[in-house]
Amino acid sequence: MMNHRKRDGFTSKFGAYAAVVGSAVGLGNIWRFPYMTGENGGGAFLLIYFIFVIVIGIPVVLSEFVIGRRGRGNSYASFVKLAPKSYWYLVGLMGIFSAFIILAFYTTVSGWTLHYIYLSVKDIFSATVSSSPAEIFNEFQKGTVMPLLWQFIFMIFTVLIIISGVQKGIEKSSKILMPALFLILVILSIKTISLPGAMDGLRFLFYPDFSKINSNVILDALGQAAFSLSIGMGALITYGSYIKRDNNLFKTALSVSLTDMGIAILAGVAIFPALFSFGLSPQQGPGLVFIVLPEVFQQMMWGEIFALLFFILLAIAALTSTISLLEVVVAYFSEEFKMKRRNATIFGAALAFILGIFTTLSFGPLRNAKLFEKTVFDNCDFLSTNILLPLGALFIVIFLGWFYEIDQTKDEITNQGTVRVWFFPVFVFIIRFVAPLAIFLVFLKGLGII
Ligand code: PFF
Repeated sequence: MMNHRKRDGFTSKFGAYAAVVGSAVGLGNIWRFPYMTGENGGGAFLLIYFIFVIVIGIPVVLSEFVIGRRGRGNSYASFVKLAPKSYWYLVGLMGIFSAFIILAFYTTVSGWTLHYIYLSVKDIFSATVSSSPAEIFNEFQKGTVMPLLWQFIFMIFTVLIIISGVQKGIEKSSKILMPALFLILVILSIKTISLPGAMDGLRFLFYPDFSKINSNVILDALGQAAFSLSIGMGALITYGSYIKRDNNLFKTALSVSLTDMGIAILAGVAIFPALFSFGLSPQQGPGLVFIVLPEVFQQMMWGEIFALLFFILLAIAALTSTISLLEVVVAYFSEEFKMKRRNATIFGAALAFILGIFTTLSFGPLRNAKLFEKTVFDNCDFLSTNILLPLGALFIVIFLGWFYEIDQTKDEITNQGTVRVWFFPVFVFIIRFVAPLAIFLVFLKGLGII
């Protein structure tokens, strides 16, 4: 059922850009990208990730905007509007389900960022403190009350913004938080590049060693590109539905994707030189920014201040992403079940928090509760990032490329014929052939099927 009340939405181009960049730039860029790059051999991973963003990422972002703005609804309703009497709405529902799962495990790590802000304020990362960052992290993670408490507080921040609405909550907060994030990241990068030995870190990040490439690296790069751009699920469809009719969708998709990639690379520039400068290994997995970086801060001049800045950066990045995840769920509940925004927000957040309790405790009391040899957290991450997001992206491009009338898509991208579309044939070629084939192959190979 569609909603005929006047819909809330983004009021300006910059507001829309800031909000979508807010969704895209998150823990994926600053926490996940560095450790993925570290584990997958540096430059080679960056190169494949780069290719995926350009060839698949940008067209999928644009496709989702088209579906959302044309459908003018949440990710389920937009499919119902564009393809009535078909099963395509299932893709929309799958997106809402993915958002829900990501929100659960995402707030686990988001909670850690708040704890680390607190630790930085307590000056725990200064040279005089004797316990090692690894001990601090392991002690904290093993706990029950503190990680859950921080996760809960983080969820409350997310709820407060979402309750305020699309314009007054999402748009307004993103317009302040994203420039702040950028500024902090630039300060940190300048500091680390000036450390002795920084060049080794930059070489690791930018120099591709092709012997490191294998099918896992490729699947991880695809998953990373999808996760980082927030594609393959409801987020960009939902945000797309809030974009004004006269905004240029292609320009927005392009600028958002490039910004997202730029911020990931900048995060790499802020992190790798510091690691190499202090002789630390980049292959540390998820603990990279919570264990190895604090070791760097302990040894660095004014490390306490940089630690504080870094964890504020991480928390901001996480917050503008969790609001987009919760919005997917809230838009669905409020439009389809006629729930008040406030109730839909609290209900959606509470449900995600319940699953989130399990993802958080999977580092502590539940660390031995495994399914397919993975903890709850790892299962949620793998299921959403490596399976649901690529599948979602695959269905989205197949839908627009093969089922929805191509003239309608053109009408939406050209704002009813008022903007030029030199790239349109390229876009159609990609969403029809290149993207589906690439996603499909990578996907099968990654699952070990071929
Ligand atoms: N793009 C976010 C990040 O890189 O951290 C994560 C994310 C947010 C994924 C929203 C999906 C989404 F819908």
